[in-house]
Amino acid sequence: MAAVIPLCPGFLTIFLLCVAAQQADGSVSVGASLTATSNAKPWLSRSGEFAFGFQQLQGNNIFLLSIWYDEIPDKTIIWYPKDGPMVPRGSKVALIDGRGLVLTDPQGREVWTSVSSSDYIAYGLMNDTGNFVLVGRDSSTIIWDSFGNPADTMLPTQILAKGEKINSKTSRTNFSTGRFQLRLLEKGNLVLNTIDRFSGEASSDPYYDSQTDDDSNSTNSGEKVVFDETGYLYILKRNGQRFDLTPKYAVPSGEYYHRATLDSDGVFTQYYYPKNPKRNTSWEVVWLVPTNICQTGKGCGLNNVCTLDGNRPKCECPQGFSLLEPSYPNGDCDPDFVPSCDAGYVEEQFDLTELNNIDWPGSDYASIYPSNVESCKISCLKDCFCAVAIYRDSQCWKKQLPLSNGRKDPSKLVKAFLKFRKRDHRPEY
Ligand SMILES: *[C@@H]1O[C@H](CO)[C@@H](O)[C@H](O)[C@H]1NC(C)=O
Ligand SMILES: *[C@@H]1O[C@H](CO)[C@@H](O)[C@H](O)[C@H]1NC(C)=O
Ligand SMILES: *[C@@H]1O[C@H](CO)[C@@H](O)[C@H](O)[C@H]1NC(C)=O
Ligand SMILES: *[C@@H]1O[C@H](CO)[C@@H](O)[C@H](O)[C@H]1NC(C)=O
Repeated sequence: MAAVIPLCPGFLTIFLLCVAAQQADGSVSVGASLTATSNAKPWLSRSGEFAFGFQQLQGNNIFLLSIWYDEIPDKTIIWYPKDGPMVPRGSKVALIDGRGLVLTDPQGREVWTSVSSSDYIAYGLMNDTGNFVLVGRDSSTIIWDSFGNPADTMLPTQILAKGEKINSKTSRTNFSTGRFQLRLLEKGNLVLNTIDRFSGEASSDPYYDSQTDDDSNSTNSGEKVVFDETGYLYILKRNGQRFDLTPKYAVPSGEYYHRATLDSDGVFTQYYYPKNPKRNTSWEVVWLVPTNICQTGKGCGLNNVCTLDGNRPKCECPQGFSLLEPSYPNGDCDPDFVPSCDAGYVEEQFDLTELNNIDWPGSDYASIYPSNVESCKISCLKDCFCAVAIYRDSQCWKKQLPLSNGRKDPSKLVKAFLKFRKRDHRPEY
């Protein structure tokens, strides 16, 4: 039987010790709280494998309320509140009856709450599955759980129902919502899409689609995404059939931790980690999708150029552009110069820089065939709308800014010509 960890001896200490009470079975009493300090003990699951509490980030004074794998040296985070609010030292999370989990900053201002319903809570539970659960008074109702409000990661025994989604974070160290989203649509297909940073809405052209929808017969469509106890992810269809996401036999047998994370680079990746590592180790990939995000055109932001490094996108602004947000290399690139057709466009004031092996397929406003390198360049120089001309195989495409779907073209047959104003002299590479 599990023992209650802090005994509460003496009247005066009762309040102090009992509000911090967490029991060895992973349960957390109503009224308990945690404060963000460097050595604060988190609420642990019974097995000790999962912890709920504050993780210290970037230096000393920034903390993230989160759930993590406590027995892995890097304390891999698998859940955090929406938009990953980073809070200062001295912030507090409390389990309050009728309120749920409430995160406040040192001034007592509310930063995040789990539920706004006034349901009575019997206790909280850091379950051994990695799910933090608020259990209702009748001891069977789940009022709120972290699995039902996922961040960027799914764990075994977790389900993604229709309409539910997970979001990538912005970068490895920035937990605010990033550019990518994994959703099970109401039609039953699982998709990966980018989101519009201004409205937060999903883009309508996914860069991965499981195609498990069936308009003609909905019993054949996907019902939920299941991550089973053995470490396999699949879509369960309404007709009971299984559409495998994790390939058959891909999961190593033995004692492993598992997770599937929509990484900040937009690649949905399933990982494993040995429970009893004999030597220094790290999370290894079981499976990922898409295998070439550069090919989909979604790996990097506007004007940016994607190259594949293993299965990962590497984004690099081309010559003539620089990062809009310097801390976000996979984001948009800002042009040094944007051509305009304002009165007084004089062809002689402009010239073109040649960028090798780079293409931004699609989104051209004009194409010319047959063409040659010289006539392609001349056409762009004379045309006040033209910012970039692409030449390949006797064809010329003219484009305006911003450019999208940028990628290195391995065939090396493509030439891109970027317009610049001659007085904005820039070094040739
Ligand atoms: C907690 O995890 C166990 C498996 O360890 C599972 O059987 C149980 O349903 C979970 N309880 C809740 C409330 O999630
Ligand atoms: C985190 O990323 C968001 C954009 O997604 C940005 O607005 C914010 O300033 C970043 N925070 C830090 C600490 O870099
Ligand atoms: C839908 O498909 C199932 C097989 O998956 C079939 O048994 C059923 O008859 C179909 N229903 C209709 C209306 O076609
Ligand atoms: C494990 O490797 C990391 C770097 O990869 C190193 O910093 C750390 O000291 C190593 N730990 C052990 C126990 O070897």
